[in-house]
Amino acid sequence: MTTRLTIRRPDDWHLHLRDGAMMAAVLPYTARQFARAIVMPNLSPPVTTAKAAAAYRERILAALPEGMDFTPLMTAYLTDDTDPDEIAAGFADGTWVAAKLYPAGATTNSSSGVTDIRKIDAVVARMEEIGMPLLAHGEVTHDEVDIFDREARFIDEVAIPLLKRHRALRFVFEHITTKDAAEFVAGGSERIAATITPQHLQINRNAIFKGGINPHAYCLPVAKREEHRLAVRKAATGGSGKFFLGTDSAPHAKSAKESACGCAGIFNAPFALEAYAEVFEEEGALDRLEAFASLDGPRFYRLPANEERITLERVETAVPASLEGGGEPIVPYRAGGRMRWRLA
Ligand code: DOR
Ligand code: ZN
Repeated sequence: MTTRLTIRRPDDWHLHLRDGAMMAAVLPYTARQFARAIVMPNLSPPVTTAKAAAAYRERILAALPEGMDFTPLMTAYLTDDTDPDEIAAGFADGTWVAAKLYPAGATTNSSSGVTDIRKIDAVVARMEEIGMPLLAHGEVTHDEVDIFDREARFIDEVAIPLLKRHRALRFVFEHITTKDAAEFVAGGSERIAATITPQHLQINRNAIFKGGINPHAYCLPVAKREEHRLAVRKAATGGSGKFFLGTDSAPHAKSAKESACGCAGIFNAPFALEAYAEVFEEEGALDRLEAFASLDGPRFYRLPANEERITLERVETAVPASLEGGGEPIVPYRAGGRMRWRLA
């Protein structure tokens, strides 16, 4: 049995860091493991300008504890009114590396998101031209669509027509949760990739309802049936190179989760890599963890892989029931449980 595993230092290709006191509280959990992270722009107000992204980046770096080494990679929040020149200028000067598509109403702070994909066709055309990746929250949002079907419907109604209109667009299907999305990405060209979260590898929708409502298992896209979880596990561990690590760690105060209208989001940053290691071990694919966590993402983003190494050891670690979240406690993923691996 493998008991120690040394790999290149990984990156997190999908992360919510928030702002202010909560950001300062959660940032060290990510920086402890990951060298870089794609930082989501769904603040309130959202990060729609390069100026706002640069200022947010500075706030993140200012909150980073002494001696920690971490690079935030910023993203633009697309709206119906996004100016292609703003997006291109911020990409050209290195302020941001990608733009995020939130269909309006899809999730936390998405009310300024895109109401109809056709409205951003000029922006997408420019991104295609300059090679800037489009990161999609891949769900349709119409009320009449069942919440468990929203990702699959996005493929047919949005992704396929969009990628036909923009044949060179670089596209990341974020946090995939279904067999449909896994097959769509696996069958697509090299310019299409996907991120996968720990929770969508480890829980199915039963976790949300087991023994009562479990708000800490609720995120968007919502966890699906077991057959989908198994398909997503196969995609993550199969070594295709098109699926890479993106935690979608999304902290909310305990009180905002345990509420009559609980927020969507799972705070998995504290033990993310440990959770992925469990999955790869269970699938007999520990030898592929490094590609998923540390190589395939940088290749897609055209960045060098990290040179530093980290070591995971097979030693049980307890997950605290809650963590300090900048004034209010936050409940982490797998709270009160045990992880089989830990960072050495
Ligand atoms: O569960 C989620 N939480 N999904 C998202 O897409 C957004 C995120 C958040 O920002 O809380
Ligand atoms: Zn997210």
